[in-house]
Amino acid sequence: MKKGLRLTVNGQPYELYIKPKTLLVEVLRDHLGLTGTKRGCDSSSCGACTVMLNGMAVRSCSVLALQANGGEVLTVEGLAKGNELNSLQKAFLDYGAFQCGFCTSGMLMSATALLNENPKPTKEQIKEGIDGNICRCTGYNSIIRAVTAVVKGEYKEAK
Ligand code: FES
Ligand code: FES
Repeated sequence: MKKGLRLTVNGQPYELYIKPKTLLVEVLRDHLGLTGTKRGCDSSSCGACTVMLNGMAVRSCSVLALQANGGEVLTVEGLAKGNELNSLQKAFLDYGAFQCGFCTSGMLMSATALLNENPKPTKEQIKEGIDGNICRCTGYNSIIRAVTAVVKGEYKEAK
């Protein structure tokens, strides 16, 4: 039997009916078409599915959508302001912080959570912030450089 789910995703309200065991990542990707959030390990190990739920970074492969009922979700699609990428996205581009791109949305969301909590992290704290996100292309140095550039104020946020 399906259950009602209300979610605000990237500022937009949604109401849908889902099976109780539906995961948050499935709602985002399969029901709402927000395929920027990736599905890698499905076991909370790779970080590819990271989104923000009520201001906290969560692994959307490990959250039942109904656990997020009434909540606010931010996905990678919600980072840009209109057509303008946000600072982290611009820095990832400029610093070549991805190769295949599979880990990128999760990395961006973990970095977003880190900077929300601590706008001036040290290099060690940046490493810790993305610690749970695996990049198979081993682009960690570029990712850390990109986040550092944002921390140093090299980018202005779009208004
Ligand atoms: S797909 Fe969720 S942590 Fe890997
Ligand atoms: S850029 Fe390929 S997994 Fe990170």
